[in-house]
Amino acid sequence: MRMSEVLRQLRQQRSTAGARPRLMQRFEAFLPITSATPVLSLGEGFTPLVHARTLGRLIGCPLLYLKVEGANPTGSFKDRGMVLAVAKAMEEGARAIMCASTGNTAASAAAYGAAAGLEVVVVLPKGQIALGKLLQAQVAGARVVTVDGTFDEALRVVRALGAKGAGARPVTLVNSTNPHRLQGQKTAAFEVIEDLGGAPDYLAIPVGNAGNISAYWQGFTDYRRTGLVETRPVMLGFQAEGAAPLVLGYRVDRPQTVATAIRIGHPVSGDKAIQARDESGGAIDSVTDQEILAAYRDLVRHEGIFCEPSSAASVAGVRKMAAAGEIDPGATIVCVLTGHGLKDPETAAANVDPPLEAEASVDGLREVLGW
Ligand code: F0G
Repeated sequence: MRMSEVLRQLRQQRSTAGARPRLMQRFEAFLPITSATPVLSLGEGFTPLVHARTLGRLIGCPLLYLKVEGANPTGSFKDRGMVLAVAKAMEEGARAIMCASTGNTAASAAAYGAAAGLEVVVVLPKGQIALGKLLQAQVAGARVVTVDGTFDEALRVVRALGAKGAGARPVTLVNSTNPHRLQGQKTAAFEVIEDLGGAPDYLAIPVGNAGNISAYWQGFTDYRRTGLVETRPVMLGFQAEGAAPLVLGYRVDRPQTVATAIRIGHPVSGDKAIQARDESGGAIDSVTDQEILAAYRDLVRHEGIFCEPSSAASVAGVRKMAAAGEIDPGATIVCVLTGHGLKDPETAAANVDPPLEAEASVDGLREVLGW
């Protein structure tokens, strides 16, 4: 390329700020933002929508797309809602934020709280948090408390403390019970519509506390209200077999699954998720740990996208439904990949072989490679 052409292109787009606007500004009309809401951003949102050609062909859904939410600043979709929840907390004069978490909410709260200069307290079920997430919260300076119990128990305690008030400390709860969280998270649906030029036929998503599926449905509904699109997708939610209260319809007191982010027994937004399912004519189903891990591996081996195990539940579910002939092969399907694979190095390590070892010589390399 000639230098004059390079300069012409650089001048045309003076900075990357225009190419990547702030999430809260881009979708301000849909959000509860006032002139008093502080501008806060770590560059969240505007995540890639990737056409998964190879994996799509393999599972019989050629129009399979992946919404790569691991590309958010702290590596999960939580940043979309956290940016708004923290900005609103600042607007309301909070000095501290607090949440219970299976890890990603904690990592996001720690980062946005740090950026906002707030005290951050995160309460986690002991021994059940993927290492990357735990470290994210700790390194960012959050006060990390583990409790001997499940996520559901941690959330119960945090909500009770929030209701009682933390002494003289104005503290805001930033779990998805905070309505700003779901408002922020619905922006992912707007991006999907804008990238596809319309709503997909299906939207598949992992379900834990059931906030995100509810937020997407709200987003698709809000966008349709503008008249810019006519349809909304059929919503498909997937829980992990050992932690699937919405599927089985019974109490799950000791949820168990390799997908630690969605190891939840009593989803707070369960009613909203059921509503999204029913209004869209969709389904909430379960997938086994084996199905989740197979999708987790195939996503990165065929598409180069390394997500955390919980995220792969969406693809595992679509694969299962497609194999059962329950999905029209001509349908456009978006699977939400909610978090980055590096969040959970232990699961990754348990699913690979150790590296090959060679002498530091050409012959040594040739020998182990068989070249
Ligand atoms: N995927 C990932 C990677 C998650 O971290 C979560 C939830 C979900 C899916 C489920 O989303 O709860 O809105 O249905 N993680 C929460 C947390 C519970 O504390 O980080 P949901």
